[in-house]
Amino acid sequence: MSTKTSIALAGLGRMGRIHLANLTGRCPSAQLAAVFDAREDVAREIGEQFGVPWTTTYEELLHNPDIDAVAIATPTGTHAPLTIAAAEAGKHVFSEKPISLDRAATVDVLDAVKKAAVQFQVGFHRRFDPDWVAGVHRIKAGELGEVFMFRTSLRDMIAPKAEFLAGSGGFFVDVTVHDFDTARWIAGEIVEVSAYGSSLSDPEGFAAIGDVDTAVVVVRFENGALGVIDNSRAAGYGYECSTEVVGSRATLRIDNPRRFGYEWRTPGSATVPLVADFEQRYPFAYQAEVEAFAQCVQTGEQPRCTGLDALAAFDLAQAASHAWRTGTTVKLSPQRVDGGVEYGALLSSH
Ligand SMILES: NC(=O)c1ccc[n+]([C@@H]2O[C@H](COP(=O)([O-])OP(=O)(O)OC[C@H]3O[C@@H](n4cnc5c(N)ncnc54)[C@H](O)[C@@H]3O)[C@@H](O)[C@H]2O)c1
Repeated sequence: MSTKTSIALAGLGRMGRIHLANLTGRCPSAQLAAVFDAREDVAREIGEQFGVPWTTTYEELLHNPDIDAVAIATPTGTHAPLTIAAAEAGKHVFSEKPISLDRAATVDVLDAVKKAAVQFQVGFHRRFDPDWVAGVHRIKAGELGEVFMFRTSLRDMIAPKAEFLAGSGGFFVDVTVHDFDTARWIAGEIVEVSAYGSSLSDPEGFAAIGDVDTAVVVVRFENGALGVIDNSRAAGYGYECSTEVVGSRATLRIDNPRRFGYEWRTPGSATVPLVADFEQRYPFAYQAEVEAFAQCVQTGEQPRCTGLDALAAFDLAQAASHAWRTGTTVKLSPQRVDGGVEYGALLSSH
């Protein structure tokens, strides 16, 4: 293997283009090996632009001995079969979140990557963002003391297109899943989930797919700490991803960085440029997660964010979805298992 991990990119849409930019110059340990998309025009255009093989046939990537790994950024419903096929072909896999829309398929993926002994990392990019990494490092070092309260907001400015929403797995599985991963990373395991949801920006559109665009999730952690997660598909003013962790000795607050450092001042007011989407908010995180994955392929070190972490976040998202639909509080019993923590299927709600 060369000093760069050769990574083929599957899926060249919103998220795939971000990974593309990182694989073509921003990650010292990675290089783009090939591109794959269901749309021939898209695959051809990107392949020709970057001078790499392009295909609409996934198997071509898997038979190519020059490819070490596959980065999967296709719609969520396709991640599991693409990951399993890659693992069976001996390719390492970086997969966008969530692993699947289905728990059994998620478990099949974990089994397949374990059996094939390939590296598997899931795209929870906050775990690689410099602000979050620095803050969590100080929490883990004990500087914050005991966690009393966790609050986080993840709000998109405008909702994605209807086609994406229909295959997204729903608001909790597609969006809140990021916050559940962060919550576990920062404050530990979760034993209770309540959730409230509304569709306000496009009531008919969201009702048609049985989904919501605004949600508040309340959780209780194992140590008794409480957490509040608020999410929006259509916050209007910009993209926001911020958090606060209140502890016995300190409080961590991570706000959104401004898009630019300047303010525009007029008599009696000032305006600041806000980030508009996840690409503007997290360029370093997306770069760092792919770089870290490429390095793990070379060193054999376990990725910072594992398949079990992704399964746990998925189970919590399912719990939130159930809590919202039934108007109940879902009780959870996270179990320590080899290599991490597993929540399992829903136990009970009241
Ligand atoms: N980590 C994050 O911050 C983040 C942000 C956005 C999206 N995502 C995830 O990334 C994934 C893709 O989302 P997106 O917004 O980029 O979607 P998208 O619709 O913009 O792009 C999907 C791409 O995959 C292609 N495609 C569709 N079906 C395919 C198939 N069967 N085989 C090959 N290619 C296929 C499409 O032609 C398109 O180019 C989703 O799983 C989503 O949850 C993650």
